Amino acid sequence: MNICQKSKFGSLLSVLSFFLICSIPLQAAEFPGYEVAPERRTTGIGKFYMGREISFVMGHQAAAWLNRPGRIQEEMPDEVVANMGLQADHVVADIGAGSGYFSFRIAKLVPDGNVLAVDIQPEMLALIEQRKAQEGVTNIEGVLGKVDDPNLPLNSIDAAIMVDAYHEFDHPFEMINGINNALKVGGRIFLLEYRGEDASVPIRPLHKMTEEQVVKEMGVFGLEWTDTLDFLPWQHMMVFTKVRAE
Ligand SMILES: C[S@@+](CC[C@H](N)C(=O)[O-])C[C@H]1O[C@@H](n2cnc3c(N)ncnc32)[C@H](O)[C@@H]1O
Repeated sequence: MNICQKSKFGSLLSVLSFFLICSIPLQAAEFPGYEVAPERRTTGIGKFYMGREISFVMGHQAAAWLNRPGRIQEEMPDEVVANMGLQADHVVADIGAGSGYFSFRIAKLVPDGNVLAVDIQPEMLALIEQRKAQEGVTNIEGVLGKVDDPNLPLNSIDAAIMVDAYHEFDHPFEMINGINNALKVGGRIFLLEYRGEDASVPIRPLHKMTEEQVVKEMGVFGLEWTDTLDFLPWQHMMVFTKVRAE
């Protein structure tokens, strides 16, 4: 084999190893499986994940409810984003962004970065585009996700936030897998859900989650439970950190 043939052989090997590496499945977590029940609860879809019945998705027709004035007292959105410890150049994914109630607040904190507003309903993304144009906001990008894929590039985000959304993901394992793969090492997931342990929180049971259940579901991916901030009237603000690459 002459030098030229050797180098061709070498490049063939690198191309082959590139495809080999790319074909190694990223999904290292073990899938706990879903269960389907013959009967479902009124706001559930009859599909269970790790003992929890998944709720149905809130339709875009109810988007105005997400912007109700009372939400400021109930969910303290400005305090939520202020407690995310963001840096000006961070890239943050708002998963299940809805009308962008949190995306627009986060965008102000990352002027040199970007917010990826992910939703499965194009109508929600259209509302975000409309508001972006009205307010001249340029650092929010709408991303159309799929029920089992947040559609985010690998190793691209510093943080992800899910507010009142995770309980209605009908493929929670695949969604967290996709988010985990998109997070940089050291990146954080902020998961906000109404407190399932607290009967006085006036929300239907399937729209709440207990801290124990959330920890169990995030634990599947080896995400480290770093904190629970309990300053909110009705919700847990739970923080998970990606401590290692898969
Ligand atoms: C109750 S709304 C909350 C919206 C927003 N986070 C807020 O707090 O105003 C939940 C949103 O999650 C979206 N959603 C449901 N399943 C999803 C999935 N698998 N991926 C992305 N978004 C999803 C719904 O379309 C809906 O817009």
